[in-house]
Amino acid sequence: MNRKALITGASSGIGKALAAEFAKRGFGLLLTARDTNRLETLADELEDRFGIDAETFTADLSTSDDVEKLVRWAGEYDVDVLVNNAGFAVKGDFADTDISDEFTMLDVQLSAMLRLTKHAVAAMKQRNKGTILNVASVYSFSPVPQQAVYAACKSFIYSFSSSLKAELRSTGVTVSVLAPGITRTEFRTRAGIADKNNAGMSAEAVALIAVERALKGDLLIVPGLQNKLFVFLSRHLPISLSIRLIEFINARRGLKTTADRS
Ligand SMILES: NC(=O)c1ccc[n+]([C@@H]2O[C@H](COP(=O)([O-])OP(=O)(O)OC[C@H]3O[C@@H](n4cnc5c(N)ncnc54)[C@H](OP(=O)(O)O)[C@@H]3O)[C@@H](O)[C@H]2O)c1
Repeated sequence: MNRKALITGASSGIGKALAAEFAKRGFGLLLTARDTNRLETLADELEDRFGIDAETFTADLSTSDDVEKLVRWAGEYDVDVLVNNAGFAVKGDFADTDISDEFTMLDVQLSAMLRLTKHAVAAMKQRNKGTILNVASVYSFSPVPQQAVYAACKSFIYSFSSSLKAELRSTGVTVSVLAPGITRTEFRTRAGIADKNNAGMSAEAVALIAVERALKGDLLIVPGLQNKLFVFLSRHLPISLSIRLIEFINARRGLKTTADRS
């Protein structure tokens, strides 16, 4: 039977690469983001390449109206895999950033994720099978100056997903968290982060690891050796050292730090 994967933020970057990975494995796709043209182009391409069905739904996940419409639309299908990937970062000292951008970020990455998961998990529990993959970050494990709300949001995603996985232990439903580090997508340009190097993993490499491990039901998926090391240090260093480490890494990448400005 044709399994279906619902992927948010499928119009670019990691979401687009995840869509291709699921299509390669024969999953039908339910793709959503705001950019209708990009979604439709991707759906057509993946249908041609992999002979699967791909449907699209344009939605702005920062609005509860659109999220409700998406939930209703997705409710017409048996969703086997839900990927909460849509997201963006707000960069800058918290004192200087626009609070409405931060609330929009939380709406997209937390409110929409919770609503979609709430509906999907109920249906998955009834069928006693399903996979939820939530996209967090290596920043889930440490405070990050200049991305304070973003990092806290990613910590929320990791904590919530871990609790949910435990609640679903006796069912056939699994929950995974993808924690990528720097990945070459539109993410940093959109956040106004000028990185002097074209560093990081490709979205395709991240997606391959993510899909393989999520389908096995692994909780935490950290792609790449450097990211694994960063997560290990973030989880084991005292917070003050962890912050210094991030400031050091970001300074080497040419990103401004609090220390640079003072
Ligand atoms: N790239 C990295 O270095 C990195 C590192 C760690 C974690 N991540 C996480 O990976 C996830 C994917 O990011 P990416 O790197 O692939 O960046 P990206 O290329 O900018 O893709 C972001 C996706 O989110 C969608 N999106 C943004 N705002 C939306 C909204 N209001 N409503 C609906 N969809 C929205 C965008 O689609 P539309 O613009 O068409 O709506 C796009 O498809 C994010 O959760 C991000 O936090 C990325």
